[in-house]
Amino acid sequence: MAPVVGVIMGASGTGKSTVAGLLAHRLGWPSAEGDDFHSAANVAKMHAGHPLTDADRWPWLRTVAAWIGEREAAGTGGIVTCSALKRSYRDLLRDGHPDVRFVCLVGDRDLIRQRMEHRTDHFMPPSLLDSQLATLEPLQPDEPGGVVDVGGPASQTLDQAVAILAAPTALHPTVAPNNSPTP
Ligand SMILES: Nc1ncnc2c1ncn2[C@@H]1O[C@H](COP(=O)(O)OP(=O)(O)OP(=O)(O)O)[C@@H](O)[C@H]1O
Ligand SMILES: [Mg+2]
Repeated sequence: MAPVVGVIMGASGTGKSTVAGLLAHRLGWPSAEGDDFHSAANVAKMHAGHPLTDADRWPWLRTVAAWIGEREAAGTGGIVTCSALKRSYRDLLRDGHPDVRFVCLVGDRDLIRQRMEHRTDHFMPPSLLDSQLATLEPLQPDEPGGVVDVGGPASQTLDQAVAILAAPTALHPTVAPNNSPTP
């Protein structure tokens, strides 16, 4: 399979870390958590309970894009998690990076909320889910990648994500997120 760089995106709790881990294992590609690239200042702000502004996010997104560029240069392929909820964030991530493929994870709100509540490895307030779903700008047809509904078992999500990354040309999104903003 040709190496590409998969950006595993979507709202909190949709399974980005889970799917990224499975993908990296299946494909043998290096992987990273986008959140690990935050500056100390951003981390301190988040720990203090203050939401990040877009101005806080741009330098962070550029470091994620730099990681993508390194993977492209090395030709190893790669998998990185990043919620990438807005089109403008995604445009920054793929600017100058032709190997980027977005895998947008979506799912029924109540199911995702339930999964978040049962998560034991880390805590994100489930209340965050609604604001993230409201912020999510669905993947558009001219963006490279595709959408996966995470309603089934993780193995099924994994297979669909692999299919998106393996597609010779960009796929168009196939599933509309539940909470698409109404025009
Ligand atoms: N089909 C599936 N795909 C992905 N995750 C699933 C699936 N079924 C169950 N899960 C569970 O859903 C939870 C998803 O949480 P995960 O931490 O991977 O989400 P996340 O998007 O990385 O969240 P955050 O943005 O808060 O880091 C995990 O407990 C995972 O085991
Ligand atoms: Mg995660």
